[in-house]
Amino acid sequence: VIAGPSSLVIFGVTGDLARKKLLPAVYDLAHRGLLPPGFALVGCARGQQEDFPAIARDAVERYARTPFKESVWRRLAEGIRFVPGDFGEDETFERLVKTVEQLDVERGTGGNHAFYLSIPPSVFGVVTQQLAKFGLATSTQDTWRRVVIEKPFGHDLTSARELNSIVGAVFPEESVFRIDHYLGKETVQNILALRFANQLFEPIWNCHYVDHVQITMAEDIGVGGRAGYYDGIGAARDVIQNHLLQLLAFTAMEEPLSFEPAALRTEKVKVLRATQPVGPFDATTARGQYTGGWQGGEQVPALHDEDGFAPESRTETYAAVTLAVQNRRWAGVPFYLRTGKRLGRRVTEIAVVFHRAPHLPFDSTSTEELGQNALVIRVQPDEGVTMRFGSKVPGTTMEVRDVTMDFGYGHAFTESSPEAYERLVLDVLRGEPSLFPHDEEVEESWRILDPVLDHWAEHGAPEPYPPGSWGPSSADAVLARDGRNWRRP
Ligand code: BG6
Repeated sequence: VIAGPSSLVIFGVTGDLARKKLLPAVYDLAHRGLLPPGFALVGCARGQQEDFPAIARDAVERYARTPFKESVWRRLAEGIRFVPGDFGEDETFERLVKTVEQLDVERGTGGNHAFYLSIPPSVFGVVTQQLAKFGLATSTQDTWRRVVIEKPFGHDLTSARELNSIVGAVFPEESVFRIDHYLGKETVQNILALRFANQLFEPIWNCHYVDHVQITMAEDIGVGGRAGYYDGIGAARDVIQNHLLQLLAFTAMEEPLSFEPAALRTEKVKVLRATQPVGPFDATTARGQYTGGWQGGEQVPALHDEDGFAPESRTETYAAVTLAVQNRRWAGVPFYLRTGKRLGRRVTEIAVVFHRAPHLPFDSTSTEELGQNALVIRVQPDEGVTMRFGSKVPGTTMEVRDVTMDFGYGHAFTESSPEAYERLVLDVLRGEPSLFPHDEEVEESWRILDPVLDHWAEHGAPEPYPPGSWGPSSADAVLARDGRNWRRP
């Protein structure tokens, strides 16, 4: 579905996110013919940018997923404007009002404008208040105004509530679009199709058959260049509070009445409410910080030696937690969540690991290499789903060993997946809120994580781990304590 007449106003358009993700996403949408003919893009940032269209073009040529086509770019560029200025100053917003009014006339944007705050949360308040003061925040019967915000949505429950109330004082909840770009990923949306479009999985998707669930988001990159954002935030706030808890919600929730946004949200909030961190945290959680060393044939610095990090920084670059979903479906099934930087490889996956067969009519030497059945949703890269089960090893004895059955997007589909931001920007313009976490989800996620963060704040420093490894040894101990192992994806 093509978006209706509208514009996208990006605050902080000269930042990394805009350059690498937002501008390319807008171009990709134009390339696929999903933007309205008179679409307009307004960049807003401090300082003059005479050459903003050239900067935008460079970003598109570098980072867009679809091929660069002069004709597509030219049509898009006709609707590009730049509004310079400090976000605290009235003149900036006077210029912005003039610009969007002109666009309504010249491009037919119809008074429909989405304001994307690609700026630090500390200035959300200023910008939303200015938008309100200059009459830019109010939708009418025929026009809409929306605000798009990026994480971090606070750094704990209290600050998240404050942030929600700052934004909520200006925009009603239905006009607030919070980006969790994991929800824009095809493979994440596919969790719902896998579970609710099939008969095969749902009957065994519960504590009677599932032993435990592992959700992993591993990255091989470090946090060099991101000290301003990452220092003091760390892996749990950066990734577990949002991306991984959203993955947990999709994996564990009940079937929604429909895929209407409200129905979906009801089930997500319900399952998050039922989720609790499991203690004692010394034994059930782990955190680490990468040291310097060699990774993939390259010498890489320790976090302490990355630009902008103090030698005494206690920011964790690895985090693992154990959660319980306290309802009938998941009673006694631990959900282990882990994420880390500079790990062995880049991989995000959800592994649903099943109980062993209740009885094995084989002699024990025949099943030595038999693990537990598992269904692994490969979120990225190499997107797909793997099922692991035992099979007879060809030969004259009844020996059983694990094999895998595989579905890969590359083989199954000729259609290409849109980039996460492309899908989400389109949904903002279409007013489709399903893939955006509601304020209740954000607050529940902090409620789950806060006790762990408080515990860590009072208990020493993260454990060092070498680059290219799978994290600190305390993370292995978390599962070993329950007689389990982390998967090596
Ligand atoms: C962001 C985090 O939300 O997600 C980053 O702030 C992380 O630290 C990134 O690198 C990973 O995104 P993706 O889509 O590459 O898995």
